[in-house]
Amino acid sequence: MGTRCKTAILISGSGTNLQAFIDRVASGALDLELSVVFSNNPDAFGLVRARDVDIPTACIEHGHFANRDLFDRAIADKLDEWQPDLLVLAGFMRILSAGFVARYAGRILNIHPALLPAYPGLDTHRRVLDAGDEWHGSTVHFVTEELDGGPRILQGRLPVIASESAEQLAERVQTVEHQIYPEAAGWVGEGRVEFRDGRTWIDGTVAREPAVQTFDELGQRL
Ligand code: GRF
Repeated sequence: MGTRCKTAILISGSGTNLQAFIDRVASGALDLELSVVFSNNPDAFGLVRARDVDIPTACIEHGHFANRDLFDRAIADKLDEWQPDLLVLAGFMRILSAGFVARYAGRILNIHPALLPAYPGLDTHRRVLDAGDEWHGSTVHFVTEELDGGPRILQGRLPVIASESAEQLAERVQTVEHQIYPEAAGWVGEGRVEFRDGRTWIDGTVAREPAVQTFDELGQRL
């Protein structure tokens, strides 16, 4: 992928990660073309964030389709109007079908709020606190058919504060996400990171482990 990688961002809700991409591109620190913001939810606040800065938006509600395959085909047909090089899932709360993942093989990124492979699935912050873990964080990974199981690219980790609530921890993890997600997507856009043979390659070498960045309790990168 060359520079000005055409990027579609898929959201379902607030879109704070989307905002991080918008801000990073506006500041010149991230060289992606934000081509379209797509949502399955017409009330997603992320759509407002996109419209505010004149990024085209598209919305298709999943409830209008009889099954996942039909919905996914409709999303793909819509997205293809922008010919995206890269799809960034940013709080997109639908599981994508195998057909959709195959159509954009190696070109879909997700961020999951846990240090994968630990804690795939939902309610990660509560589970981390209940387990008494010392570290938590978030993982940017390529999307494959395996839910939260695709090859990892970059993890941001931060110390857990034992006395905090799941909501407070979630907020601190999001501060980290807003830093690592645009950065990892930028690496893919520049061609530094690739998906090849079902694995992540960083700078031409297979990455058996993701890149890791460590943050302090306030979400400042160390
Ligand atoms: C993020 O915390 C991400 O880890 C998860 O969904 C959340 C989206 O939040 N996949 P936002 O809509 O970007 O604020």
